[in-house]
Amino acid sequence: MSQSSRVLNPALRSKIMSADEAAQFISPGANVGMSGFTGAGYPKLIPGALANRMKAAHEKGEDFRVGLWTGASTAPELDGALAEADGVGLRLPYQSDPTCRKKINSGLIDYVDMHLSHVGQYVWFGHLGHLDVAVVEVAAVREDGQLVPSFSVGNNKTWLDLADKIILEVNSWADLGVDGMHDIYYGTLLPPQRKPIPLVKPGDRIGDRYFRCDPSKVVAVVETNHVDRNTPFAPPDATSRAIAGHILEFLSHEVKKGRLPESLLPLQSGVGNTANAVMAGLKDGPFENLAAYTEVLQDGMLDLIECGKMKFASATAVSLSPEAAIAFNKKAAALKKQVILRPQEISNHPELIRRLGIIAMNGLIEADIYGNVNSTHIGGTSIMNGIGGSGDFARNSFLSIFMTPSTAKNGAISAIVPMVTHVDHTEHDVHVLVTEQGLADLRGLSPKSRAKVIIENCAHPTYKPALNEYFRRALDQSPGKHTPHLMDEAFSFLRTFKSGKN
Ligand code: COA
Repeated sequence: MSQSSRVLNPALRSKIMSADEAAQFISPGANVGMSGFTGAGYPKLIPGALANRMKAAHEKGEDFRVGLWTGASTAPELDGALAEADGVGLRLPYQSDPTCRKKINSGLIDYVDMHLSHVGQYVWFGHLGHLDVAVVEVAAVREDGQLVPSFSVGNNKTWLDLADKIILEVNSWADLGVDGMHDIYYGTLLPPQRKPIPLVKPGDRIGDRYFRCDPSKVVAVVETNHVDRNTPFAPPDATSRAIAGHILEFLSHEVKKGRLPESLLPLQSGVGNTANAVMAGLKDGPFENLAAYTEVLQDGMLDLIECGKMKFASATAVSLSPEAAIAFNKKAAALKKQVILRPQEISNHPELIRRLGIIAMNGLIEADIYGNVNSTHIGGTSIMNGIGGSGDFARNSFLSIFMTPSTAKNGAISAIVPMVTHVDHTEHDVHVLVTEQGLADLRGLSPKSRAKVIIENCAHPTYKPALNEYFRRALDQSPGKHTPHLMDEAFSFLRTFKSGKN
């Protein structure tokens, strides 16, 4: 099949042009909504062409930066290229690119870190400004002008609905077997017309198979044939295997107690190596007939589907290692019986997460002895990635688990601290905390009881004495005895923890 045969609509076929030509439609200062969610479904050529225009403008002393909106993080060809070209004035809602992160932390890029389920609503109501251009990768353009999504859905529906101009990248690398994997909900999501979303099982289909698209807004169509660029996962190590082991044991205990069914409840698994390792652990665990209602489908979850332990997974994007992405593409036609990709406002919707009774498992940077969690900041002032969907899931899940190695940077930093330097998830949204040392079930515990169990079960032995000493003195000297703290000391303890082995 030739590339152009993927653009079947005659009006849109007449708009086929090069990426350099298409990038001319993006002006300095524009807000641009690009597709992309992790390393999947992002435009492969236009960001590079736009970055070249930006560099040329900067050489002439002109300012050329845009507001860059996406589904979540993307790949070096998008975030990396535009950040490198100093072409991003404002970034939202999530990123994980090293160059982008560096420029945010040095003050060159403004960053709005948002719950991923909120983005669509913010854009509809204009809180983020006007959306000028949508740049969206699709797998094909149908004769009727509808668009076959590729391997991420993210905010694409919102971008296509609201942008003044649309630029499409039609990526013929995506196997056409992906046609039918998507469920694009067009029901009313905005108040005061909002209605219940009619989804009661992860596998329910409630929307359209394709994106609707007003052809009169399409200014350019660019054909590509480029593989999604994903980041490899670190193979599970002793630490992540230990974390997975504690979680499996806990889930088995909950089943025995009758608090979870034998096939568990739908799983959400966060981003990162630890989350992926936990999914790998489930492969050898006792649970069958699993389901996932999650944000991204990582390698570990795909393995669960392929070995028959998981029956169904709903997500907004795949987030696979390079090898797994290629294999997934080849098998898309078969996998769509067990995988649905939806808009992120549906994959992360609080109503649905609460209704389905999700078991959420997310990573963290630091947790404090009372159970508050920091997922986003290093040292309280520098961003790592962003909150992503962790808040959507933690607040609304049936069971909200946070997991981390007990130390970072080869043991030089304790992940358990007296007081977190930034709060993403409050003590109210953290039901279970797990490190390789053990698991703390915090449900129903008062702050002081939580502190005891977190220090005892989760802290690394190197840091346990200092944490116990802090807690003992806080109990003694804190003016308030509900959440005892020594305000002057909480952060100097953090410095001590860091200097220990540095
Ligand atoms: N102090 C300083 N650095 C720390 C740290 C701490 N307390 N804890 C972790 N880090 C560093 C690690 O050293 C590592 O740095 P490196 O990349 O330079 O090696 C980095 O943070 C990532 O840590 P890692 O242990 O590899 O964890 P991870 O891959 O499991 O990711 C988060 C952990 C928190 C960064 C990741 O889960 C995240 O971005 N979460 C927020 C978004 C989210 O949860 N989305 C899911 C919703 S569906």
